[in-house]
Amino acid sequence: MDKMVICGGTPLHGTIEVSGSKNAVLPIMAAALLTDERCVITNVPDLRDVQTMIRIFRALDIKAVFDGGAVIIEPKSSKKFIAEYSLVKTMRASICVLGPLLAKQKKAQVSMPGGCVIGQRPVDLHIKGLRALGAEIEIKHGYISAQVKKLRGANVFLGGAYGSSVLATTNVLCAATLAEGRTLIENAACEPEVADLADFLIKMGAKIRGHGTPTIEVEGVRQLGGATHAVIPDRIETGTHMIAAALTDGDLLIRNARRDHLSALVDKLEQMGVGITARGENIRVKRRQRTLKPVDVTTLPYPGFPTDMQAQMMSLAAVSDGISVITEKIFPDRFMHVSEMNRMGADIFLEGASAIVRGVKKLSGAPVMASDLRASAALVLTALVAEGRTDISRIYHLDRGYDRIETKLIKVGAKIRREKE
Ligand code: EPZ
Repeated sequence: MDKMVICGGTPLHGTIEVSGSKNAVLPIMAAALLTDERCVITNVPDLRDVQTMIRIFRALDIKAVFDGGAVIIEPKSSKKFIAEYSLVKTMRASICVLGPLLAKQKKAQVSMPGGCVIGQRPVDLHIKGLRALGAEIEIKHGYISAQVKKLRGANVFLGGAYGSSVLATTNVLCAATLAEGRTLIENAACEPEVADLADFLIKMGAKIRGHGTPTIEVEGVRQLGGATHAVIPDRIETGTHMIAAALTDGDLLIRNARRDHLSALVDKLEQMGVGITARGENIRVKRRQRTLKPVDVTTLPYPGFPTDMQAQMMSLAAVSDGISVITEKIFPDRFMHVSEMNRMGADIFLEGASAIVRGVKKLSGAPVMASDLRASAALVLTALVAEGRTDISRIYHLDRGYDRIETKLIKVGAKIRREKE
């Protein structure tokens, strides 16, 4: 296994390019299962999760290749419909093939994803939505087994205990495109990645309105065709680089970024004293003042503050001048990074679903362990500002969702190297 060795203390200066969105490309790849025709997806980041999705396709006898930033998918009327546990257990997002497989093959067997370090990952809303479209679904031997004679449009409310669900929305949306009649999804997820999926489906011939809002309307069609689509930039990678600039007291120009996808983060960073200037698809980030003010953050469904930026924001709060309260409303257990940050001299304690962060003057490098994708990113950020050397083990978590992150950070001055553990 690899580890990352980082020597902190260098302000980052220069230009960073953002890659395509992981959380857009995965459901968009899955949506290609809805047609027998060739689909070409571009601006695809080079990630382990993309490779995992390609392995799932191959197990379904579907030809999929990643070729320098593009994924080419040739479903060629595959009849397979099982997404194996051996693959699904490595990537929970694999569940996004459930809706497309059911709609195209009229049956699907997808392994239950199981929990992960950020907490419980229930699937009740996925099942509720697909049942509303007429699917018979049962859970047995660790698999979600679904079948249907004919999907029929329906009205379905997809709000759960924690609000909307991104991948339940993508599953129901995909299935609804081939259902007979009209489907209305209420309390749909509004994330830009859902809207990007809908744009891809519309290019395939789907009839969809209201995507990006809590109410999505779909008019089913008989079949969908192939399409070519460029994936939106990754807003979480963008936000991670923005925090790197603020944390190291540097000055970064972040290119191929969508400022309009990050309003909640920009709002909080500006409150802390970070200057953010957006021009076209570029965002410039640097502190407006020497010390940063503390901040209170609560994670919420989009357009609220993204849970995928919670750990990274905690890194910044850890060195701000005061007490910040960070409350996690989407995945209440998503605090695996706290104990590792405290090993580096942060002063954070947990109170239920909130972390109380007392800002400290400085952090010190230490050996730490990555636990999940965004916690790993937060540890990299913390290491960039800590004094001395930090060794981050189990860095494979980072490779799941960040495309060449150390190469990009080294280019703007970070002292990072990868070593065998
Ligand atoms: C997507 O996961 C993202 N993954 C996650 O990003 C992200 O954290 C999450 O949305 C929330 O924004 C991808 O898009 C591949 P949810 P998803 O269903 O769809 C509860 C990352 O780091 N829920 O929107 O699986 C659930 O427990 C990853 O890139 C139900 O109650 O998340 C959670 O509390 C991590 N029943 C809340 O909804 C269900 O049937 C939101 O989860 C489904 C979910």
